[in-house]
Amino acid sequence: MLIGVPKEIKNNENRVGLTPAGVSEFVKYGHEVYVQATAGEGSGFADAEYEQAGATILATIEEVYEKAEMIVKVKEPIAQEYPLIKENQLLFTYFHFASGEELTHAMIERKAVCLAYETVELSNRALPLLIPMSEVAGRMAPQEGAKYLEKPLKGRGILLGGVPGVKPAEVLVLGAGIVGTQAAKIAAGLGAQVTVMDINLNRLRELDDFMPKNVTTQYSNEYNIRAAVKTADLIIGAVLIPGAKAPHLITRDMLKTMKPGTVLVDVAVDQGGCIETCKPTTHEDPTYIIDDIVHYCVANMPGAVPYTSTLALTNATLPYALKLASQGWRVACLLNEDLRLGLNVVNGKVVYKGVADAWGLELTDVNQVLNENTMFEESTFMTV
Ligand SMILES: NC(=O)c1ccc[n+]([C@@H]2O[C@H](COP(=O)([O-])OP(=O)(O)OC[C@H]3O[C@@H](n4cnc5c(N)ncnc54)[C@H](O)[C@@H]3O)[C@@H](O)[C@H]2O)c1
Repeated sequence: MLIGVPKEIKNNENRVGLTPAGVSEFVKYGHEVYVQATAGEGSGFADAEYEQAGATILATIEEVYEKAEMIVKVKEPIAQEYPLIKENQLLFTYFHFASGEELTHAMIERKAVCLAYETVELSNRALPLLIPMSEVAGRMAPQEGAKYLEKPLKGRGILLGGVPGVKPAEVLVLGAGIVGTQAAKIAAGLGAQVTVMDINLNRLRELDDFMPKNVTTQYSNEYNIRAAVKTADLIIGAVLIPGAKAPHLITRDMLKTMKPGTVLVDVAVDQGGCIETCKPTTHEDPTYIIDDIVHYCVANMPGAVPYTSTLALTNATLPYALKLASQGWRVACLLNEDLRLGLNVVNGKVVYKGVADAWGLELTDVNQVLNENTMFEESTFMTV
């Protein structure tokens, strides 16, 4: 298969979809890889390293999209990229369609095959291509929160860990999944007093077993959240309902009950945010203030640590990308339930319920789409 790796053009996005090590794996299995010039620069990978691994470097993003049967990237395509996408082209990347109406319509119109990292799902419901980035964002959240709690950055001027004789800061983490667990661990490590809330009691039991003493767990409901936001210094939003918009656990009216200078880090912003007043920001201008409350809502937090993030992401995506390249997307999705769940939009049809529900679009059964297509691909299927 012909694989294309474009340079990310989203604001301050320095990650890249494939490392030189990944290129050499594709080449080993007989595929051809086209990498846009300087695509890996932001993550510390030079063009020469990709060439040594067997890739061909192309000067422009247009050439990469023109050549490739499968595009492997990191973030969803942005408007400039829409016209470059070809009918039947396989796009393997993060999409977050449930929070991108324009993107959803654009991909339907381009008739591309959109396999979204964030909805690839294992039988135990784990999201293997979201986990590494969630780990990064989760560990970053207290770090960013601590920074914006500083007075010159408009925060309350409180040190997370306190000092001997002075109480530490209170950190409230909403969601005890991957992001929430990593955030709680780092905040606790910095010495803060941490409360983690979730609706999954079994998850709270697990956390209670292995977290240090300065982490307490509490069931997530409106009553408990209303009480906790009054004393919290830093609130980290980390909830997820897979493939759907995040619920607004913190509503606009709660802001008035918080201490001025409280910092909100809504990591769930890429799914619409679990804080009503959250709107996506960028690394260039990460925060804004409403009612004296600092909002940090960067939608691609791991983009700020591209070296760690690219390695963490590609460790997880590469085995799937190799399957897609070797078997073709139709057969790979028929044979692998986890990959099949990654299909969101296929040749103009929405095949993922969360996306159809989010924008009131017709849902097509994914199996119908796969079976329709495999009728033309029977020989490929038989050889696998
Ligand atoms: N901004 C970024 O750069 C960035 C990076 C990575 C992940 N994310 C996002 O972070 C979010 C969390 O991801 P994750 O990997 O931790 O997901 P996860 O599935 O591991 O955890 C989500 C948790 O939210 C809990 N939850 C659901 N409803 C809840 C409620 N009402 N109250 C409290 N908890 C509730 C679930 O029980 C689950 O434990 C996702 O939206 C993800 O897309 C953002």
